[in-house]
Amino acid sequence: MGRTSKDKRDVYYRLAKENGWRARSAFKLLQLDEEFHLFQGVTRAVDLCAAPGSWSQVLSQKIGGQGSGHVVAVDLQAMAPLPGVLQIQGDITQLSTAKEIIQHFEGCPADLVVCDGAPDVTGLHDVDEYMQAQLLLAALNIATHVLKPGGCFVAKIFRGRDVTLIYSQLRVFFSSVLCAKPRSSRNSSIEAFAVCQGYDPPEGFLPDLTKPLLDHSYDPDFNQLDGPTRIIVPFVTCGDLSAYDSDRSYPLDLEDGSEYKYTPPTQPPISPPYQEACTLKKKGRLAKEIRPQDCPISTVDTLSQPLPLPQRRTLLASEVEDNEMNCSP
Ligand SMILES: C[S@@+](CC[C@H](N)C(=O)[O-])C[C@H]1O[C@@H](n2cnc3c(N)ncnc32)[C@H](O)[C@@H]1O
Repeated sequence: MGRTSKDKRDVYYRLAKENGWRARSAFKLLQLDEEFHLFQGVTRAVDLCAAPGSWSQVLSQKIGGQGSGHVVAVDLQAMAPLPGVLQIQGDITQLSTAKEIIQHFEGCPADLVVCDGAPDVTGLHDVDEYMQAQLLLAALNIATHVLKPGGCFVAKIFRGRDVTLIYSQLRVFFSSVLCAKPRSSRNSSIEAFAVCQGYDPPEGFLPDLTKPLLDHSYDPDFNQLDGPTRIIVPFVTCGDLSAYDSDRSYPLDLEDGSEYKYTPPTQPPISPPYQEACTLKKKGRLAKEIRPQDCPISTVDTLSQPLPLPQRRTLLASEVEDNEMNCSP
């Protein structure tokens, strides 16, 4: 993909770079705030699954920049520092990470917990939705330890088959639960955001990290309930209707007639998991397909053992180098 082709395709990607945001996701949080005034009176916040850090940038500017503000950002991946943001590198589904986050808020709870967590999508929808739900529940579990009564929790959800189960669980802890879709979130994606306001755990509830909220033994029929136990939450679109449509392509020429200039990304991710794949791709060595006819017969003729019939298959990047050596005449 050329340097500007992503800019042509996605107006929010381009605007993010032009406005100095690390990712287009910044607009999602800003548009959610337009609708729900999430930052009003907030001085302490947690950003779960924060890398590369555009939500933390928004939080840092809206609350951290005021001096008294305090933001804790957590991600599996490292991210570049931001003013007023304390970073923890860890897995939010792990007890040790949860404990580390909670310890920063002991005695002084948070007003807002946000989670834009997304697992590496496999394309198997049920698996992806399940992983997403687990991330959300890990985030909720942490929120139950750090949120002040009346506090707010915002988390990415996939509006899949079992989303009602998630709404039901959220409604146990919050007086208001809504499903919001910012304009910058593509309509073609099942992504949305659960906006949960008024943290109000049930009487006698004791936050407990040792009991995950969703485990393998949950009753699948739970989601089939109807009547008052089946929660139907309002769906709200947010962001000005005149805002850019994230599913449309816009021309690069600017409306004021000035010439488009390419802007590099504000802060590329620090050692992303796909770094090795990028290096291999640059060298033209990513996922090469080896066909049996590419291997000269002479290399197998001399073997004492009969070989199994050669099969056509795609190699993993890590295997490419070995196979190039094995097949060279
Ligand atoms: C869509 S990105 C977040 C973008 C971020 N909100 C921003 O504005 O820059 C999703 C992030 O979730 C993180 N993530 C996924 N699973 C995680 C886990 N178990 N613990 C912590 N972070 C996780 C990924 O590393 C990734 O950085």
